[in-house]
Amino acid sequence: MNCKKDIFILALETSCDETAAAVTRNGLDILSSVVSSQIDLHEKFGGVVPELASRKHLEFINPVIEESLAQAGVHKEELDAVAATCGPGLVGSLLVGLSAAKTLSFLLDVPLIGVNHILGHIYANFISHPELQTPVLCLTVSGGHTDLLYFEDLKGYEILGRTRDDAAGEAFDKIARFLELGYPGGPVIEKLAREGDSGAVDFPRAEFKDDTLDFSFSGLKTAVINYVHNQRQKDEKINKADIAASFQKTVFDMLIKNVIKAANKMEVKSVVLAGGVAANEKFRCRLENELTSKKLPLFYPERKYCTDNAAMIGAAGYYQFLNRDFAALDLNPEPGLRL
Ligand code: KG4
Ligand code: ZN
Repeated sequence: MNCKKDIFILALETSCDETAAAVTRNGLDILSSVVSSQIDLHEKFGGVVPELASRKHLEFINPVIEESLAQAGVHKEELDAVAATCGPGLVGSLLVGLSAAKTLSFLLDVPLIGVNHILGHIYANFISHPELQTPVLCLTVSGGHTDLLYFEDLKGYEILGRTRDDAAGEAFDKIARFLELGYPGGPVIEKLAREGDSGAVDFPRAEFKDDTLDFSFSGLKTAVINYVHNQRQKDEKINKADIAASFQKTVFDMLIKNVIKAANKMEVKSVVLAGGVAANEKFRCRLENELTSKKLPLFYPERKYCTDNAAMIGAAGYYQFLNRDFAALDLNPEPGLRL
């Protein structure tokens, strides 16, 4: 008889502008994943307004938790642990999820697990692809991070490269804002770029003197802004679709170049993508083509697990649970937490 007990974890994610709760069984089995988005609220401001975000989290956190437990058919008393994102993110937003998690952990007398948001994005891959083999190369591209990591196995990783200034998603958001396209920038630029010519403008790519796997996107951002100003001064037409397509292509050129460089260096069995930018179909398609010639499979989470959600926090939290990597009740949010 198999007496192994199932491990139920309630996970909360409130690092930015989504209030999310999920219930996971044994890590990768997602019993529920509820996400309440605030996009409509922040859209008119062209970015997330931290004070508004935390107030909305306060309003939604309890109903979202109740909904996730109800959808999973799990009672609070059955939970083995409560996990919550402890950083990186907006401090006021993180505090809401973390405070709720601490309260539940204390009341239910179960361990509290503080999960790094970025690690969550990576584990979203293992939810979608439990068959995925290590060692694995991981590119994390979100609004706050651009990291290239090497996982020998699921328990540890090495940082191969990271951005020296803006994150890739941040560059999308800033350019979308500059071109008055709306927020968040990635999806609107992806959509507009389909109508444009990616060869229309030859934007510069960051070059480093050392043999690094780091990234840099702030020079590209300046180049796009300068280009538009110059066109305006010359009274020439500004074709936003061409700019979007050319900008997007340049970002992807830089990302793909380093992934291929790293894949040549390390012996990996697969490559995974994480973070909001990984939702971009053009990017996935281009990278997949490049990796096919190296016989390396590319994995990325299902679309619903690419953007912020709590299922990924529950999955990462499960491996911390197995390692007994628990947090004390005085755990504080860390807005600048890194991997
Ligand atoms: O991972 P995520 O949802 O949140 C964090 O930053 O943690 O990523 C959001 C970022 C934003 O910068 C957004 O513009 C970008 O991911 N993004 C995209 C796409 N969808 C979201 N970037 C390019 N193409 C997309 N389709
Ligand atoms: Zn995120």
